[in-house]
Amino acid sequence: MVLAAIAVGTNLGDRRVHLERALEALRALPRTRIRAVSSWHETEPVGGPPGQGRYLNGAVLVETGLAPRELLDELLAIESAEGRVRVAGRRDGPRTLDLDLLVHGAAVVEEPGLVLPHPRAEERPFVLEPLAEIAPDLRFPRSGLNVLEALARLRASVGGRRGSADGTVALSSPAEARAWCGHARARGARIGFVPTMGALHEGHLELVRRAARENDAAVVSVFVNPLQFDEKSDFERYPRDFAADVALLGPAGCGMAFTGTLAGFFPGELAADGSLPAAKLLDPGTAALGLEGAFRAGHFAGVATIVDRLFEVVTPHVAYFGEKDFQQTLVVRDLSRRRGAPPIVVCPTSREASGLARSSRNERLSPTERAEAAVIFRALSSARAAWRAGERRAAMLSGALRTVLSGSTLRVEYATVRDPEQWTADEPATPLLRAQALVAARLGAVRLIDNLRLDVPDGGVPGDEVGGS
Ligand code: PAF
Repeated sequence: MVLAAIAVGTNLGDRRVHLERALEALRALPRTRIRAVSSWHETEPVGGPPGQGRYLNGAVLVETGLAPRELLDELLAIESAEGRVRVAGRRDGPRTLDLDLLVHGAAVVEEPGLVLPHPRAEERPFVLEPLAEIAPDLRFPRSGLNVLEALARLRASVGGRRGSADGTVALSSPAEARAWCGHARARGARIGFVPTMGALHEGHLELVRRAARENDAAVVSVFVNPLQFDEKSDFERYPRDFAADVALLGPAGCGMAFTGTLAGFFPGELAADGSLPAAKLLDPGTAALGLEGAFRAGHFAGVATIVDRLFEVVTPHVAYFGEKDFQQTLVVRDLSRRRGAPPIVVCPTSREASGLARSSRNERLSPTERAEAAVIFRALSSARAAWRAGERRAAMLSGALRTVLSGSTLRVEYATVRDPEQWTADEPATPLLRAQALVAARLGAVRLIDNLRLDVPDGGVPGDEVGGS
């Protein structure tokens, strides 16, 4: 018995009925068992006369004792039973049913009417995409590539080195992303990586544009990581629309964006209830102590664990993070140092005209709340004014923050100051040489965080490439 892969497609009549009947006929073949069937993918016709209808395509993996020619004859018989008339010399016309034998074990055949592996299988996304769902590791005997590798090669060649206005290569699994990045690196491309949880806004796009400018390929991950949410309702309410995110990424210069599921990121590592066992979580290090680490139990272990896995999938030359999540940048920088790479570039916080830091969570604020949330930046600016006036005591600087915030309806979780280069869980008691003011507050059901460097003229990040090798 060998494994054989068959592509099925139709663009005439009731396409679903043709496909269902094809499956029925395949099930009835002698010495053959269906191992897996992909979902149906709708695609535009490739080649052939103009005005043809869209195709419904899929792939079927069978285990068969039939020889290649025997199996091919059976497939042709199923096609003609479904009403297809093959016209000699015409390949791309409309069809009630098309069954192509793609791969038959390790067979390499070149005979009239039978070429194996199928000569165009590795050039067609509408063949490889469904096949990747059911047989990602199946190898094409001639090229030696498996299905995922062939798909990555195809996408790298059509997706180009940079994104474009008409699209970013969008992949739905970390395995496909790993293969795409492998190909990009193999042809010498430098990869700049921007990890995100989607719901992209201008702040993310600034990171992506910079990654595209400074590298050959900008790669973006879009994954709402359940490991880093301490509140189930926050996780559930987090906006998700991968297609909308991808549409924004093309014009920003993103070459490839990928998403996935927890099971896709940690294959074979999840417990029966679908969670990642605690023993698999990474220690986020000392930068996780205090503030976000104290208010959001387990948050940074979840961030470190997914970022580590994302780095492993993408193997970027450099990764870009926003300064808005200041403590996260410290955790990631430490992680990257411990694990040997990549360098981390921290980019200034992107702000709305009111000073409010851009965040996906801002979308959940009402217009009135959004206006009120700008008080956070006013508080940070007041601490910076105090620093500029010569104040170096953390308690006085955080007092300046709290004075401004107390005039609002925000429920403050912390409003405090740290030395950004010597992180401590608590506020330093001795006068500061450098200072980062940090605030977390709730407005209605939304939790907002922001921060500002007090000791540099523009509040940005001095020497912003940190960590890694
Ligand atoms: O900053 C974020 O959006 C997330 O914490 C990150 C880095 C993508 C990890 O999930």
